[in-house]
Amino acid sequence: MTPNPAYAICRMSDIPSQRAAGFHLEIVEPDGRRRPWPIIVVRWGRQVFGYVNKCPHDGVNLDWERNQFLDPNGIRLMCGKHGALFELGTGICVDGPCKGRGLTPVGLVVLDDDICVTGVTLVEDDEADPAADAP
Ligand code: FES
Repeated sequence: MTPNPAYAICRMSDIPSQRAAGFHLEIVEPDGRRRPWPIIVVRWGRQVFGYVNKCPHDGVNLDWERNQFLDPNGIRLMCGKHGALFELGTGICVDGPCKGRGLTPVGLVVLDDDICVTGVTLVEDDEADPAADAP
């Protein structure tokens, strides 16, 4: 296995600039266990920022309404449940119950216009648990 694989999750053009999208990925822990790993990808022009989709104070996904990640002004990530606001570029909470804490960053790189996750081991589709597809 490559030490630092990059997993393409979407094309750059799949996320309009100044928007965020959620991805439901699955990670392989160092002990080999798999666990769901929901992430948020924010695109701002040619820049992309990734965070684990989990509020630092209560552990819930930010998109209380599915795939709604941004505040009404479109300039911060927002917890849809409590309204906490997070800076897009740092993931730091600037207002709300977890003020001063931050979202967990996700390593991203853009390769040939693909947005790719790095720094983790993901379960790839062809490794998915066959039982998961069973009726
Ligand atoms: S879960 Fe932390 S602000 Fe909503």
